[in-house]
Amino acid sequence: MAKISIFGGKGMIGSQITALFERCGNDVETIGRDYDGHELGDIIVLAVKFPDLAPLVETHGKHFVGKIVIDITNPISFGNLDELLVPQGTSSAEILAEKLPQSQVVKGFNINFSNSVANAQVKGNPASFVFASDSSEAKQAIFTALEKSGAKLVDAGNLQKARLLESAGLLLINLAVSGQIQRDGGLVIV
Ligand SMILES: NC(=O)c1ccc[n+]([C@@H]2O[C@H](COP(=O)([O-])OP(=O)(O)OC[C@H]3O[C@@H](n4cnc5c(N)ncnc54)[C@H](OP(=O)(O)O)[C@@H]3O)[C@@H](O)[C@H]2O)c1
Repeated sequence: MAKISIFGGKGMIGSQITALFERCGNDVETIGRDYDGHELGDIIVLAVKFPDLAPLVETHGKHFVGKIVIDITNPISFGNLDELLVPQGTSSAEILAEKLPQSQVVKGFNINFSNSVANAQVKGNPASFVFASDSSEAKQAIFTALEKSGAKLVDAGNLQKARLLESAGLLLINLAVSGQIQRDGGLVIV
C-alpha cells in the first residue's frame, strides 16, 4: 500500500485517479488550493490544468523533495489544438523535472480519458496506463500501487518519452473534440 497525495483530486480526472488508487487499496488524500504544507505521500499526482502547474510547483515544490511526482497534464489550449503549449524538443514533464531536481518525475495518465480511469476499462477492454520516467524505481512503485487495477501497465521508457505521450494526448483530444472518441473511450495497447 502506498500513500498518495493528489493535487486537484476533486477535478474531472483527479477524482477518477483518486478512485483508482483507492480501489487498488492505497491510502489516498485529495488536496485542493488550500494545501497547508503537511507531509505528503510518497507518490504525488499533479492533476491540475497546465496553466496551474507552474504556480503550484513554485509555491509547493519544496514539499516534493524525495517524492515521486506524476505529471498528468496535457499542455494544450482549446483555442489552438494544432500544437502543444511547450516548445518543440521538450515536454511539460521535462520542464517540471528541471524545476524539481530532487524529485522523481513521471509522466502518466495524460492519454487516458477520465471515464476510463477509475474502473480501468475502455469499452470492455483493460485500460492502458502508460508511464515515462528516468527513474525505474518510481515507475515500479506506481506499478505496485496499481497492480490490482486490472489495467495494462506500460513502461514507455525515459522521461524524454513524455514528448511522445504529450503529442499522443493532443491527437486524442483532437479526436474527442471532433466527436470520434467519447469520455469512456480512448487508446488501448494490446
Ligand atoms: N479530463 C480528462 O479526461 C483528462 C485526461 C487526461 C489528462 N487530463 C489532464 O488533467 C489535468 C486536469 O484536467 P481536468 O479536466 O480534471 O481539470 P479540472 O476538472 O479543472 O480539475 C483541475 C483541478 O485542479 C484543481 N487545482 C488547480 N490549481 C490547484 C492548486 N494549486 N492546488 C490544488 N488543486 C488545484 C482545481 O481546483 P479548482 O476547482 O479550485 O479550480 C480542480 O479541482 C489537465 O492538465 C488535463 O490536461 C485530463
